[in-house]
Amino acid sequence: MTVTGTLQDKILALKKQRNAVILAHNYQNAEVQDIADFVGDSLELVQNAAKTQASVIVFCGVHFMAETAAILCPDMTVLLPDEHAGCPMANMITGEQLRAKKKELPGVPVVCYVNTTAEVKAESDICCTSGNAVKIVESLPDNEILFVPDQYLGTWVASQTKKKIHLWPGFCPTHAKIRPEDIIRLRQQYPEAKVVVHPECRPEVTSLADQVASTGGIMKYARRDDVHQLIVGTEIGILHRLKKENPGKLFIPVSIEASCPNMKKITLEKVLWCLQEMKPVIKVPEPIRLKAKASVERMLAVK
Ligand code: 13P
Ligand code: SF4
Repeated sequence: MTVTGTLQDKILALKKQRNAVILAHNYQNAEVQDIADFVGDSLELVQNAAKTQASVIVFCGVHFMAETAAILCPDMTVLLPDEHAGCPMANMITGEQLRAKKKELPGVPVVCYVNTTAEVKAESDICCTSGNAVKIVESLPDNEILFVPDQYLGTWVASQTKKKIHLWPGFCPTHAKIRPEDIIRLRQQYPEAKVVVHPECRPEVTSLADQVASTGGIMKYARRDDVHQLIVGTEIGILHRLKKENPGKLFIPVSIEASCPNMKKITLEKVLWCLQEMKPVIKVPEPIRLKAKASVERMLAVK
């Protein structure tokens, strides 16, 4: 089929032909968000993937996100427009390293952040996202937990619960660029503004915020009637949606350096190309998929 017109027209026509759905994370390039059927945070994207009726998912995000969709939807074709769009934090722990750590902490349940490989999910008791991490940890009967791989999300969770949390030294290099001194300066410059930050930020940053929230939680916070100006401490891709959905409000990024190079690898050209070629397909070997699925489904079952 030859479709003339813009890149967007071609993507939309081919998407229909392939019975595909386009899911995009809140950190995606603006034009990719604008072509998506659904834009959301990690939890919302997992929930959406689990219930879609399409035959193909084009996952505009990073590798672990597409892999999570492939874990939940083995009969669907999951495409990641750039297979090199990885998450450095997810690569900070391997299945082998986790198995060794579990031997040091026998009987301690493992909560893994969704930013992990399928192999690490398969080795974990339950998965979580930044939007539900506290609830997931609280849902477990145990008083001691091993939390992997994000030490800062783990530290944030520990501050919200009485449980003893063993941390893994992983972190997000993009959120590490969000500095407390920038928040202090921006608070002086915008005294009326509220401050919201992502829990992947360092504790010296989260301690300065009015609200600590997932990207979905940040979207919700921005809609509040008492929020007119918002200093935003997370990856800058979220500003597109914040501005689009809240005209008349002012959004100030803590740092324009907080741009995730992997999220930005997804472009409209690559979205079109992956729909034309039907690759790269993300698939998880069946024995790992089944174990990883159990850990993701345990998370989805927590109300
Ligand atoms: P959320 O969208 O769940 O807040 O996650 C942020 C993130 O860094 C995903 O890589
Ligand atoms: Fe990974 Fe950080 Fe990029 Fe999210 S923002 S995908 S945690 S590197």
